[in-house]
Amino acid sequence: RMKDSATGLDKFVLREARGSSVEVHLYGGQVTFWKNNFGHQLLFVSNKATFKPPKAIRGGIQICFPQLGNHGALEQHGFARNRFWSVDESPPPFPVATSSCHIDLILKSSQEDLKIWPYSYEFRLRVALSPRGDLILTSRIRNISSDGKPFQFTFAYHTYFSVSDISEVRVEGLETLDYLDNLKSKNRCTEQGDAVVFESEVDKVYLSAPPKIVIIDHEKKRTFVLRKEGLPDVVVWNPWDKKAKAMPDFGDDEYKNMLCVGAAAIEKPITLRPGEEWLGKQEISAVPSSYSSGQ
Ligand code: BG6
Repeated sequence: RMKDSATGLDKFVLREARGSSVEVHLYGGQVTFWKNNFGHQLLFVSNKATFKPPKAIRGGIQICFPQLGNHGALEQHGFARNRFWSVDESPPPFPVATSSCHIDLILKSSQEDLKIWPYSYEFRLRVALSPRGDLILTSRIRNISSDGKPFQFTFAYHTYFSVSDISEVRVEGLETLDYLDNLKSKNRCTEQGDAVVFESEVDKVYLSAPPKIVIIDHEKKRTFVLRKEGLPDVVVWNPWDKKAKAMPDFGDDEYKNMLCVGAAAIEKPITLRPGEEWLGKQEISAVPSSYSSGQ
């Protein structure tokens, strides 16, 4: 546990014996740094990011809950990314044991939040590093209300990947899928072509995507692999030049060096009855492209 030098707020750094590490802020329960055994920061964080309220941290992995984007009446991407999480000292055991290098955080409904979203929940987030430095985020959300009321939510791990040049990036695994296009009032369209490439603003939700998505960064000869469980959809976002200029916490040219791709549950909101728990997992790895064949 340490204090962020700029804000004085709490953050944690986990280091795995073979060299990987991850930094997590209690603000937003947000991961802002990840390097694997190959040794570089693999996530994008804007040079203009602020690491304190009221804005969410621009970059890393934002937890969007209980609402993604403006698919509902709450603030954009829900409130979880703007709340202070706590360390979960004694999380209930996982059905299957996970990596030993991890930290557990928890977010619960506060009196304030009950006014805007009147449901009692416990959101447990485990941030873990595998022995080879893969980053695994597991969310367990439970309805703990005593009044018998179910609740519904949408969710995403809004993940800002660091890329060398967006124009050279290809995403595999989304081709031929249906998607909702936020730039066309959420119109449902179908992706054409081999792999998804980028030449202008993109703001899409791919529906019922396969469990594995691959992001190929040609220039750095790096391949990210994203694996997901319990999260059928995938968000893909890049603001491109015009929107970048309009965002106060994002550099004008930074859109060239980032791509958001994240596991999500949007089209069919998750419903939890009292006592029920949902689990959603996203695992990301990054390897030099020459290593990636056969993975
Ligand atoms: C995307 C949304 O998921 O996130 C976009 O679909 C939005 O519309 C982007 O601009 C970033 O959101 P925010 O709230 O972090 O600026």
